[in-house]
Amino acid sequence: MSLQRHILSLFIIIIVSFGACYCSKVQEGPLSSINVHDSPSIDDDYGWTFKNFIKQTIDFFSSNEVVNEGCTKPLLRTINVNDYGAIGNGLDDNSVAFKEAWQAACSYDGDVILVVSEGDYLLKPIKFSGPCKSNITVEICGTLEASNERSDYSGYFKRYWIIFDSVEKLSVNGGGTLNGNGNIWWENSCKRNKKKPCKDAPTAVTFHKCKDLTVEDLTIVNAQQMHVRIQDTVNVNASGLKVTAPENSPNTDGIHVTNSQIVQISSSVIGTGTYNLCYQFHGSRLWIIAEKYYQCDWI
Ligand SMILES: *[C@@H]1O[C@H](CO)[C@@H](O)[C@H](O)[C@H]1NC(C)=O
Ligand SMILES: *[C@@H]1O[C@H](CO)[C@@H](O)[C@H](O)[C@H]1NC(C)=O
Repeated sequence: MSLQRHILSLFIIIIVSFGACYCSKVQEGPLSSINVHDSPSIDDDYGWTFKNFIKQTIDFFSSNEVVNEGCTKPLLRTINVNDYGAIGNGLDDNSVAFKEAWQAACSYDGDVILVVSEGDYLLKPIKFSGPCKSNITVEICGTLEASNERSDYSGYFKRYWIIFDSVEKLSVNGGGTLNGNGNIWWENSCKRNKKKPCKDAPTAVTFHKCKDLTVEDLTIVNAQQMHVRIQDTVNVNASGLKVTAPENSPNTDGIHVTNSQIVQISSSVIGTGTYNLCYQFHGSRLWIIAEKYYQCDWI
């Protein structure tokens, strides 16, 4: 790496001494638009201009792709939501950035990881739709914070905060947290306050019509209402989940599995309030393995 750094410094000196105009041209646009596969192979009839030389050099050092050398198809591409303008400062809404990053990942012709780095990423309701071109992994290292503006959840999103719809071979993992920030909904629940109208609140995360789904190592807390819903989905492994909400949170059920087949939930802890269901299976065929690790309790 230090050798690479030296070479990079050298190129930076060269670039600077040849004038800033090339530099600003080459570097404009998000990093994600730089793709080593846009670079022509040796066989191509390619004009060796100074500008292209610089672009290739920058591509080489800034590419985040892991390429299977000798193959034409890359093994894996990593896309970070930050490359699309997401900011994990807990203040700015990141829905547009997440949506664009998802589009890029979902349409990528090769296995792809969509990364959410450490940080607090505020999110309005959002739908991640398939089908995607290849296996897709969403790695959540940071925290997704639900918008607590109730008017954001309207129309289609009346019942959803995050929904993955019609995605096959999807993995969601990373050790991060999904925080439904449900307090505003609980305060307005008729179960808390009899004067309030009884209305449904959004589910924190929904998997709808997915196939070959893996959900691992995530914490899901303080859902607006239900924490996790798995619906019309086939072949699911969920493990290492921690699903929690305070003892007195109303209607914050843990995991609902509806009309789904072959669902395994293991090594998970669900504790979502005294009068709420840990899990409910409705119209589903499922197996639960490692039941002894499956703790259903308020913690
Ligand atoms: C894609 O996922 C399937 C399992 O769902 C796996 O068998 C396959 O190896 C994956 N593809 C790659 C290239 O990793
Ligand atoms: C879930 O795990 C089982 C083994 O326990 C495996 O056979 C199955 O393919 C897995 N399903 C997915 C979607 O990864």
